[in-house]
Amino acid sequence: MEQYVIKGGNPLNGEVEIGGAKNAALAILAAAIMTDETVTIENLPNVRDINVLLQAIAEIGAMVDRIDAHTVKINGSFIKDVTVDNEFIRRIRASYYLIGALLGKYKKAEVALPGGCDIGSRPIDLHIKGFRAMGAEVDIAHGLVIAEAEKLNGTHIYLDKVSVGATINIMMAASMAEGKTVIENAAKEPHVVDVANFLNSMGANIRGAGTDVIRIVGVEKLHKTEYSVIPDQIEAGTFMFAAAAAGGDVLVKDVIPKHLEATTAKLVEAGCKVEEFDDAVRIISDGKLHHTQVTTLPYPGFPTDMQPQMAVILGIAEGTSTVTESIFENRFKYLDELARMGANVKVEGKDNNLLELIAADPAFNMTLEQLEACMDPARYTGRSEIQVTAFLKDVVQPILDANKELLGVKADISV
Ligand code: EPU
Repeated sequence: MEQYVIKGGNPLNGEVEIGGAKNAALAILAAAIMTDETVTIENLPNVRDINVLLQAIAEIGAMVDRIDAHTVKINGSFIKDVTVDNEFIRRIRASYYLIGALLGKYKKAEVALPGGCDIGSRPIDLHIKGFRAMGAEVDIAHGLVIAEAEKLNGTHIYLDKVSVGATINIMMAASMAEGKTVIENAAKEPHVVDVANFLNSMGANIRGAGTDVIRIVGVEKLHKTEYSVIPDQIEAGTFMFAAAAAGGDVLVKDVIPKHLEATTAKLVEAGCKVEEFDDAVRIISDGKLHHTQVTTLPYPGFPTDMQPQMAVILGIAEGTSTVTESIFENRFKYLDELARMGANVKVEGKDNNLLELIAADPAFNMTLEQLEACMDPARYTGRSEIQVTAFLKDVVQPILDANKELLGVKADISV
């Protein structure tokens, strides 16, 4: 297995450029097969899940032409098979987007049940409820989700829980249904808007993405487009938290500052200075952080995907902080690692969803590599080393090359 060993611990000073949003890109790649014309997608992050999804799309017959690490051309006219199943696709969550895309276009899909990070039970009942409401029969057999409809009809769907995946999946299928679909209590995340913009650029008729009511009027055909994926707010936020923890002055470039508002607000509460520009944010931290409270919520609330990073900086802040996870029931698994490094943590609450980070032990002086390790604890190997598996290579590579000085890391790479 390819791995990096990173040794560091200095303040961060410099600039970093942020890549395309993984979770937007995954849905956009799946939606790209819904036209028989060639679609070009730019600003793809070069991470494992993207490559797995592209491979699955190629396996069912679509033309997948990887122009470079961040650009792909896809033509769905060659698709011969609506069954998507292989060892790798079973491990990723976003495979579920192929159900909405194939069902919308071909009115039939057989897709491996989604995998993904172990952060909770992660059902797909809301996706299924949406497809059924549009007239599809949906069964689960032999590890596959099997969905079929003679035709899909526009309908009214209320999501019992705000779900990014269900909102996007229903939006995709509804784009090629007959008539109008209304999704109520829809997710408002930036990537929901990005997928709607992408589908609209292919000729779909979607209004209201970014609000909690999305209206979709189905069309018969979608057409070619060229599209660039929005920046990844989680990658951007992670660099912001790294600067907060290590101290320093970092310009995080190629971002949409509005998407980072919840992260920015919490960093300011914790004592950092954050400046916003048109497409960049600058974070200045002296490494001295104050305690605060945070609760994860659907957008525009504080993102669950930033929760571990937030807990890390609160672990080194003075005073007692609390973190409440309200989206996934199993997202404090990294805490053992944090505690092992000396953080004073306690998990409470009815569903064990309340984390208390108590006044940091003065001896708890977290270094950059420990911080990075916390952000990816499964791969933590020892006090002064982290391992990062190959699929995170593009995220880590800037630390190792262009930004080596910025991040003050000395890198030994063993392959
Ligand atoms: N939920 C249901 N039923 C469903 C769908 C969701 O009960 O049918 C529940 C979930 O159990 C959870 C809540 O609704 O409690 C929200 O889940 P959501 O559907 O929004 O999450 P997701 O689509 O499974 C995506 C991202 C996650 C990110 C969440 C929340 C992808 C591939 N994954 O997951 O990102 O944490 O939204 O923003 O887009 C990651 O990037 O690695 C990642 C975990």
